Amino acid sequence: MKNILITGGAGFIGSHTAVQLVEAGLNPIIIDDLSNSHEKVLARLEEITGKSLVFYKGDCSDRSLLDEIASAHDISGIIHFAAFKAVGESTEKPLKYYQNNIGSLLALLDFMKAKQIKDLVFSSSCTVYGQPEILPVTEKTPRQEAESPYGNTKKICEDILVDYVKSHPGIRVISLRYFNPVGAHPSGKIGELPIGTPANLVPFVTQTAAGIREKLTVFGDDYDTPDGSCVRDFIHVMDLADAHVKALGYLGEQQVDFYDVFNVGTGKGNTVLEVIRTFERVNGVKLNFEIGSRRAGDIVKIWADTTKINSVLKWQPSFSLEDSMRDSWNWQIKL
Ligand code: WQD
Repeated sequence: MKNILITGGAGFIGSHTAVQLVEAGLNPIIIDDLSNSHEKVLARLEEITGKSLVFYKGDCSDRSLLDEIASAHDISGIIHFAAFKAVGESTEKPLKYYQNNIGSLLALLDFMKAKQIKDLVFSSSCTVYGQPEILPVTEKTPRQEAESPYGNTKKICEDILVDYVKSHPGIRVISLRYFNPVGAHPSGKIGELPIGTPANLVPFVTQTAAGIREKLTVFGDDYDTPDGSCVRDFIHVMDLADAHVKALGYLGEQQVDFYDVFNVGTGKGNTVLEVIRTFERVNGVKLNFEIGSRRAGDIVKIWADTTKINSVLKWQPSFSLEDSMRDSWNWQIKL
């Protein structure tokens, strides 16, 4: 059975991907420093998969830990999720973001070379597009100046991968540009669990509905969009997890010194107010929200053109916005 090392595998997207890897007959090995996740996720993963997954607590930049893992397991591929991802914090502490997000990728690439590990799936983000001129965005849409140090680390990591693969290192790499991951495993056993006050929309919605937050503020309804609130491409985390399994399978069929990049979204845009209304309708709850001022750094609208991932990776989203709102709420009430 193939061992796949998942950095940040106790996190939101990593944990859901671990479930789908097991479903696909692969063996996920999780390394996570638990700086933005909880160890109890491991027990939930065992409940869902029926397997107790191998877990190493630690930093994926720690080469001695990576070597310890490689001496115990034959690693055939890596999915690199581990990164700091708070857009706001990245502007206050840029060096923390550059050091961690770029340093960890460099450490993994060295490690892959030393251990002859061939395959890498890298967690990138639609944030590299900034505010696109033309929508929907394809993988050929020019990347723009990053809106934050966080977004810049994603751009820089993509550039590192492009340049490194050109130097014939004998590896195969895919970058997946995520749009807005939402939802939770249908069992409600794992989901998005931000530490502290959520920056992202949907956890704030579910915590407000649960009475943990007093009210949700919609950051602006005076944008040039159908209802004035921002447009995003909200993709269910289970669909996103499946994209990683498909990417690994596709890498297995490629020659080495391979690099490609794929958008991972639903291909549909929804406004913030549509998300709120859908949440209320699907779950039969009333959300206490008000319209506030715009949030600095927000782009107005973005959604994916998913033609490439549909045709090349044979991947399609199978969960709707309604499913995402239902699963997010199911997770919140089980918390
Ligand atoms: C979505 C929309 C807000 C909270 C960021 C990163 C991206 C990825 C996802 C890591 C915006 C509005 C939000 C709230 C609101 N992160 N909103 N009230 O900013 O699209 O993307 O997170 O990979 O890389 O850039 O996501 O969920 O923060 O915001 O009105 O309390 O919801 O203004 O329009 P975003 P988000």
